[in-house]
Amino acid sequence: MGIGHEVIERCRQLAKHTEEPGWITRTFLSEPMHCVHADLRVWMENTGMSVQVDAAGNLRGYYQAATADAPRLIVGSHLDTVPHAGAFDGILGVVLGVALVKALRGRRLRFGIEVVGFSEEEGVRFGLPFLGSRALVGTLDDAMLAKRDANGFSVADAIRAFGLDPATISEARDTGAILGYLEFHIEQGPVLESLHLPLGVVTAIAGQSRLDVKFEGKANHAGTTPMHLRRDALAGAAEWIGAVEREAAAIPSLVATVGRIEAQPGAGNVIAGSVHLSLDVRHTEDEMRTEAVKHLLGLAQQIAARRGMSSSSELRLDQAAVAMDARLVEMLGCAARASGFADQRMHSGAGHDAMIMAERMPAAMLFLRTPGGISHHPDEAVLEADVAAALATGLSFVDQLERAHA
Ligand code: HGY
Ligand code: MN
Ligand code: MN
Repeated sequence: MGIGHEVIERCRQLAKHTEEPGWITRTFLSEPMHCVHADLRVWMENTGMSVQVDAAGNLRGYYQAATADAPRLIVGSHLDTVPHAGAFDGILGVVLGVALVKALRGRRLRFGIEVVGFSEEEGVRFGLPFLGSRALVGTLDDAMLAKRDANGFSVADAIRAFGLDPATISEARDTGAILGYLEFHIEQGPVLESLHLPLGVVTAIAGQSRLDVKFEGKANHAGTTPMHLRRDALAGAAEWIGAVEREAAAIPSLVATVGRIEAQPGAGNVIAGSVHLSLDVRHTEDEMRTEAVKHLLGLAQQIAARRGMSSSSELRLDQAAVAMDARLVEMLGCAARASGFADQRMHSGAGHDAMIMAERMPAAMLFLRTPGGISHHPDEAVLEADVAAALATGLSFVDQLERAHA
């Protein structure tokens, strides 16, 4: 069985640990995460790694260097998923990290390798992404620990329920000597497939704004209220969603998405009085993104005013675009070429833990082709040959790092 097959089988094994039988759904420190940790712990320990779980629920496997006081290369990604996810977003980066250590076959380097499975990157449960990597870089603060989910549980409650102590969250902050961070991740888009390439070297990660938007009109009887006397929040929201799509399409390289909508009271025979929506806006240039957000919120105000209703918004995330470390990008590109693959540079439209880790250490990402460009969906896939290509490139990258530290 080739390494590509083994890695994919392990990802599919971890995909079985879900909150929703029949789907892959695993949010921050939910019950199934214990099973994910148990499987990864076995694979890590069988590869000669010592394993611990930090106070943020990050699973951390360490492969010793040749000497005790050596710096580390961190190789990681996230273990949580969006609802009804695929089997590879995040997970692949952790399983490939273990495979990279296994491929060393006991060879000790001038640096250690720490494989990290972050507890939460997607931001599904608390509307706040990157909880795991923020804890590692030391920016998970009390306000974030106090954030509550739809059931009123706080991040701290979730940490306690998982068997950890939020009071020790500061101990998750990594203060050691770190050479850099490498994240293997599926591209989650169509670019590499369109170029018929297996790998991409990420140069920058797009910035993202995530907001909650609300339209407030007046609930009323669907049968007795004439059309011209309505203040239908759902009709107003629908007009705005169309405007978001139209305006975003007109701005080069911008993407804007309304992914979630909830109408109140939500009955078929009642005109919606209020509507809550999500807005996700991304661009590699921060000014383009923030100007677009301002423009789209202005449209919401105009549509609401014309319809005799109000609109409001709450900014949930303003994540600046992040450039990957130039030296590591060059090394990764060289490693791809040395392994017989194209050195295809590209930016990431998706957010990743690498953008948080880059606050604390040099960071780099290697993308794997996403068949069909489908992600955040059960049909998400990765090719065995591309997994083998990523591993060969990762080994070449490690060899370069070893030579650079001779
Ligand atoms: O939404 C994203 O950008 C990523 O999948 N967390
Ligand atoms: Mn994702
Ligand atoms: Mn991801």
